[in-house]
Amino acid sequence: MKALITGASSGIGKAIAYELASRGIDLILVARRGIELKKIKKDVDVDVKCYQLDISDMKNIEYLYKEVRKEDIDIIVNNAGFGLFGKFVETDITREFEMIDLNIKAVHYLTKLFLYDFVKKDKGYILNVASSAGFLAGPNLSTYYATKNYVCRLDEAIYQELKEMKSNVKISSLCPGPVETEFNKVAGGSFKHKGLSADYVAKVAVDGMFKGKMTIVPTLKLKLGIALLGLAPKKLLLKIVYNYQSKKMNK
Ligand SMILES: NC(=O)c1ccc[n+]([C@@H]2O[C@H](COP(=O)([O-])OP(=O)(O)OC[C@H]3O[C@@H](n4cnc5c(N)ncnc54)[C@H](OP(=O)(O)O)[C@@H]3O)[C@@H](O)[C@H]2O)c1
Repeated sequence: MKALITGASSGIGKAIAYELASRGIDLILVARRGIELKKIKKDVDVDVKCYQLDISDMKNIEYLYKEVRKEDIDIIVNNAGFGLFGKFVETDITREFEMIDLNIKAVHYLTKLFLYDFVKKDKGYILNVASSAGFLAGPNLSTYYATKNYVCRLDEAIYQELKEMKSNVKISSLCPGPVETEFNKVAGGSFKHKGLSADYVAKVAVDGMFKGKMTIVPTLKLKLGIALLGLAPKKLLLKIVYNYQSKKMNK
């Protein structure tokens, strides 16, 4: 089997690369830091191709697709993404547009291109790395939460379409809470409690993807939390998330 992973140079994407390689799956790795991708290539025993690309630019998505479409890819992991802490009235619009391009448009485009091929072959897995943020609104991290809501809702809709078509193609959203990666450094914040390890999340993600789960939530505690969301008043949830994210913002 062969997997394409975006954002494989660090954090969850890198951990998924090692997890898939440990299962004998060849890799196509994508990120802007090519040097980090080459380190993974040196480290693993499977075939690895590296693409140093900024995929917030849709021209690079088209270039990537043209390069790899003949490769008979079985798995797409849309993982590249970032957040930005701050009040919406203060955050930088250029950075937010870049986030929307990466967290939404790149995921949307790659999902579309490969889903088309996968449906024709009637096989393949799409793992979109969303977040537990995909179930809520997120004051002080508003655009990020909104982008992850987009990914979760898109994946759920495609999941149902594939089910109705009796397709063998699977699509899953990975929805972790805090994970120890470069996320906070990039987003301008810090976790108040230690997050899960990226290696643990990667293992749960790959297991869930192969089981064809619609939504993959790494811990029971978080699963319960998400299940209870529908029962809590929306304004109370907004206040809780506001307080939680305020503590994480670098002042
Ligand atoms: N950490 C958490 O708590 C957490 C929780 C839930 C969901 N997530 C999600 O998990 C995914 C991975 O994040 P992470 O936590 O592992 O953070 P991370 O360590 O910062 O990794 C982000 C990855 O995305 C890549 N990337 C960023 N911009 C890119 C661009 N324009 N083009 C191509 N690649 C780009 C980065 O590589 P380069 O810089 O080399 O390009 C890096 O490999 C994200 O979608 C994030 O929203 C994270």
